[in-house]
Amino acid sequence: MKKPAILVARAVFPEVLTQLEQHFEVAANQGDTLWTPAELIERLQGKQGAFTTGSERIDAALLAACPELKICANMAVGYNNFDLAAMTDAGVKASNTPDVLTETTADFGFALLMATARRMAESEHFLRAGRWKSWRYDLFAGAEVHGSTLGILGMGRIGQGIAKRGAHGFGMKVIYHNRSRLDAATEVLCGASYVSKADLLKQADHLMLVLPYSPEAQHAIGATELAQMKPTATLVNIARGGIVDDAALAQALKNRVIAAAGLDVFEGEPALHPDLLTVPNVVLTPHIASATLPTRRAMAQLAADNLVGFLLHGKALTPLN
Ligand code: DGY
Repeated sequence: MKKPAILVARAVFPEVLTQLEQHFEVAANQGDTLWTPAELIERLQGKQGAFTTGSERIDAALLAACPELKICANMAVGYNNFDLAAMTDAGVKASNTPDVLTETTADFGFALLMATARRMAESEHFLRAGRWKSWRYDLFAGAEVHGSTLGILGMGRIGQGIAKRGAHGFGMKVIYHNRSRLDAATEVLCGASYVSKADLLKQADHLMLVLPYSPEAQHAIGATELAQMKPTATLVNIARGGIVDDAALAQALKNRVIAAAGLDVFEGEPALHPDLLTVPNVVLTPHIASATLPTRRAMAQLAADNLVGFLLHGKALTPLN
């Protein structure tokens, strides 16, 4: 019997590719070229499945041009690159990779919080530039982490992981805002209390963004929200670019409206707002919150298993529609 044909749209672990080749006719992109939408459409011709990452936009135009496509398996928990309604209308299955990256991403959120509050990047640049001449009482004095108030916007699995680290590891007061409030038992487990968004902005010493991207979340943090935060506060974004108005943030960092920011995701990434590169009080990382080898392997495996599950056995493991 003829094997189904799939496209692996970005480079992936060779062993995952080998596995996929046992089940499918695989067209791979181990050179990791970033294709234009037209190039992606061209390569998807005759393919029943696609292994995608957040870089590949799957929308109505692509679906109309790829009538044989049956499933797109995203190697990411976030799926704002999918037009899910259009996929459902076209009868195309969508899947993502939840759970396998939760703890790793929560670790990174906390690392970025620590690096931001304790000015690690700024002080390292100072040291590497040969500017360190002597110990000084206030040299790179930052914000306290332990015992401070951690605000979390978006309280899904990763938000809860961060809350637990803050409340139980660092003795922080944890407050959160979310579309829906957690049940009482989960709040106790996370050591977190529900507050309004206005109170979250006002009370947080450190504000962590972990909400999924949606059009309603676009610029959830802009100039107005930044102005409501404490001037000593730090902001950490490990959610998605676009949730923060990066131009407004760069301005706020320059004017010390807030003390510092840690950013792993950006509006229009991999491009960055140029002003973010000129302000010293920001820690910048290239969308690596889930990037440990075991976790990235688990994400790739789950995306591959979704393709096998759906195309060979009619059932994706972690479907979105
Ligand atoms: C995700 O899983 O959504 C990450 O942002 C991609 O690593």
